[in-house]
Amino acid sequence: MNSIPGNPDLSFDLEKIRADFPILSRKVHNKPLVYFDNAATTQKPQVVIDTLVEYYSGMNSNVHRGVHYLSVEATSAFEGAREKVRAFVNASSTEEIIFTRGCTEAINLIANSWGGDNINSGDEILISAIEHHSNLVPWQMLCEVRHAKLIVCPVLADGSIDLEVLAGLMSSKTRLLAITHISNTLGTINPVKEITKLAHEKGIVVLIDGAQAMSHLKVNVRDIGCDFYTFSAHKVYGPMGIGGLYGKKDILTAMRPYQGGGEMIKNVTFEKTTFNDLPYKFEAGTPNVSGALGFGAALDYISRIGLDRISAWENELLRYATERFSADPLIKIIGNAPQKSSLISFLIGNIHPYDAGTIIDQFGIAVRTGTHCTQPLMNSLGIPGTIRASFAFYNTKEEIDRLMEAIVKVEELFL
Ligand code: ALA
Repeated sequence: MNSIPGNPDLSFDLEKIRADFPILSRKVHNKPLVYFDNAATTQKPQVVIDTLVEYYSGMNSNVHRGVHYLSVEATSAFEGAREKVRAFVNASSTEEIIFTRGCTEAINLIANSWGGDNINSGDEILISAIEHHSNLVPWQMLCEVRHAKLIVCPVLADGSIDLEVLAGLMSSKTRLLAITHISNTLGTINPVKEITKLAHEKGIVVLIDGAQAMSHLKVNVRDIGCDFYTFSAHKVYGPMGIGGLYGKKDILTAMRPYQGGGEMIKNVTFEKTTFNDLPYKFEAGTPNVSGALGFGAALDYISRIGLDRISAWENELLRYATERFSADPLIKIIGNAPQKSSLISFLIGNIHPYDAGTIIDQFGIAVRTGTHCTQPLMNSLGIPGTIRASFAFYNTKEEIDRLMEAIVKVEELFL
């Protein structure tokens, strides 16, 4: 059992959980793998892998297109997965859940469809300085085409956003605020409900990028009140190549389709096409059915464990790692926001992150090194990148101890 100080009710059998993830028992460089790159992608429990295999071995068929048994079965499983996503984020209806290839495609869908109709010359789109490229580049591209302006809210030294500064940047020209729930680079958890309220008071549409949040904390889109919320399954223990978007029904209804093709149509003639109802209007072509089923299985899996248990252990790992890192005067932690998720970005003296990462890898430890798809943030912090250890609920304190041993070796070699 793991141990949650002050709250034993939230503990769980860590060894049993680890046994659910086959990859965690493999060796890298002849040492047991330590996987600390969970912000890039999470590992998959056997139940998710089994779901993919079972779909292709026993159910594979196209959805929404046939009256034969397999097609009906696959359609029902696919729509069942949509309902699981709806329930997980507490949307009102499955009409508000659109499957995409992932969070990046979801944001591009909104930029193209909603943005194409609602952003005009002179308008402003507001983002923050801690956005990853997926919640920055699509808006930059849109601003260029529509002659609009991208406004960037600066980040405080600890990695948090000053809400007064953010509110001050919301002008009569601001049409959209696109901001992350959790920073993939610094771990900052933004107060998205408060931020949404501030923006809505000024009539600004709000998109929350939930790529990093869904695996760590309970997401409730109705409580947040945002207009759009985007996510990727592979960061929530599900397969790659599937994710989605929550959008308020009235906004989605008014939006034009993103792509044309099968499934998104109601009636087609050479003269004119009428479009399908929500959510299918935004799902052109054969969807990633196995991915959706795997996503559903992943959400079932973590729901069985419980987000409260997951976040209690991840917070304990963060506390332990922060304590160990802080005891080493050569380590500089980048990002110390008061509300932080379970990742630590850091530098070791003036050692380049790539050099450090290469040595750490030799210990069988996977950390991410570099700019973490946030180049402008690194530029504003005046650093070439960081080493990032991002924790999931299957990680252990012993693994953090192993990372510390590797860091000491890096220091011996380079300093
Ligand atoms: N955005 C992902 C990360 O933080 C890929 O690693």
